[in-house]
Amino acid sequence: MSAPSQPAATGAELFARLIDPARRHDPYPVYAEIRRRGPLWIEHMPAVAVGSYHDCEALMRDPRLSAERWRYAGATSNHERLPIDAPTSLWQPSFLSLDPPDHTRLRRLVTKAFTVHTVTRLEPAIADLVDRLVDEAADRDTFDVIADLAYPLPVTVICRMLGVPAADEHLFHRWSSQLARFVDGLALAAAGSDDKFDWMSGTIEMHRYIEDLVALRRVDPRDDLVSDLIAIEDAGDVLTADELVSTIVLLLVTGHETTMNLIGNCVLALLRHPEHLAAVRADPTLVPAVIEETVRYDPPVHLSARVAKEAMDIGGTAVPEGGLVFLLLAAAHRDPAMYPDPDRFDPTRAQPGHLGFGVGIHYCVGAALAKTQTRLALTSLLRRLVDPVLAQDPPPYREHVNLHGPSALPLAHKGIR
Ligand code: HEM
Repeated sequence: MSAPSQPAATGAELFARLIDPARRHDPYPVYAEIRRRGPLWIEHMPAVAVGSYHDCEALMRDPRLSAERWRYAGATSNHERLPIDAPTSLWQPSFLSLDPPDHTRLRRLVTKAFTVHTVTRLEPAIADLVDRLVDEAADRDTFDVIADLAYPLPVTVICRMLGVPAADEHLFHRWSSQLARFVDGLALAAAGSDDKFDWMSGTIEMHRYIEDLVALRRVDPRDDLVSDLIAIEDAGDVLTADELVSTIVLLLVTGHETTMNLIGNCVLALLRHPEHLAAVRADPTLVPAVIEETVRYDPPVHLSARVAKEAMDIGGTAVPEGGLVFLLLAAAHRDPAMYPDPDRFDPTRAQPGHLGFGVGIHYCVGAALAKTQTRLALTSLLRRLVDPVLAQDPPPYREHVNLHGPSALPLAHKGIR
C-alpha cells in the first residue's frame, strides 16, 4: 500500500517557509514550489507572491500597481509613535516609494546629480579604499569577506560621495543597518520583533544629522553630492529641504547592504565553483560576467513589493484593491522558462538579462556604483588572496528576507600579497 500523499502546503504555510530564518541560506526550493504552483495567495495578509519571470517583469511595469506601500490595506503606520519634535523629513516618502508624477519629478532631479560620471570619477578612490581594507587584514589567517571588506566598503564610499566627514562615518554604519532591518518588514514579521523602536531612534538621529549637513553645505558648498543635490534645478524646480534629507537617507540605505550582499554572494559562488574561480583568476576581464551571473543566480535583493491600486487578476488569482503583491525576483531568476538549467551557476551563459536591479521606472539608480565597487573588490581579492577556501559552508546568513547575503564569510588562505 502506498503512503498517503502529503496535502499541498497552504499559502500561509509556504509563506511561513519563505520567511523562516532556518532557510535563509537556501530559500530556492521554496521559491521553486511557489513558482510551480503559480501566484501564491496569502489570505491572512492579504497578499499574493509571484515567482515567474514573465509575471514579475510585467507587474513591475504595470501602472495598476503602486510603489506607495502605505496604500496596502494591512499597512500599519509607525508615524504616530514619533516624538513631537521629530524631523519633518521623516514624513517625506523617498522616491522609491512614490508613483508618478511625484516619483518622476524627484527621480529626475536626483539623477541629474547622481550620474555615471559621478561614479567614474570615484573609481580610483574606491580602488584605494579596497586595497587599504585588504591590507588591514593582511596579518590574519582568516579573511572575513563581509567584516573586512564588503561591510565597510559601500558605506564608506557613499559617505565620501555625499561629503560626510570621515570622522562621522562610523555613525552611518550603525544607522544604515538599523534602517535596512526595518525596511525588511518581512524579517521583523518573522522575528515577531519589537526592533521598530531601535529603528526609530536611529532614523531620527540620522535625519537630524543630515539636516545639519545640508544646512552646512548650503552656506559652504563643496565638491560633493550633498552640495550637488542642493544646487540641482530642473526648469525652476528644486528639491525641498525635506525631499533632500529623505533622498540622502534613501541613497545611504539602498546603497549599503545591497552592495555588501553582492560582494559576499559573488565570492561565495566563485569559491563553491572552482572551475569558474580558476577561469576568472586567469582572466580578470571575466569579473563583470561573474557579477551579472551572481545577480541572477543569488541576487542581493530577493523581492520587491507593490500594492494593487484596483482589484485585478494576477495569473488567475483575484487580488483586491489594497492587496500587497510580492515580486519574488530571486524566484524569477531561477525560472526554467527564462534560463536553461537555472540552478547552475555559470558566468559563461548567454545572459538574457535579469530583474536584480529592478526594471521600468524604479530601475536602480545605483546599479553602476554597486557594480563598480564589486568589480574592484573582486579583482583585488582574486589578485591578493593566496589559495582562499571557505572556512564555513554554508556561512551564517543575515536575517533579512529581501536583502539576501551572508552575515560573515570567513576564508582561510595562505597569505595576502
Ligand atoms: C532601486 C537593487 C545598489 C539606489 C532598486 C531596485 C532594486 C535595486 C531591485 C528596484 C526596487 C523596486 O522596483 O521596488 C539594488 C542592488 C544593488 C543596489 C541589487 C547592489 C548590488 C544601489 C546603490 C544605490 C541604490 C549603490 C545608491 C547609492 C537605489 C535607488 C532606487 C533603487 C535610489 C530607487 C529608484 C526609484 O525608485 O526610481 N535597487 N540596488 N541602489 N536603488 Fe538599488
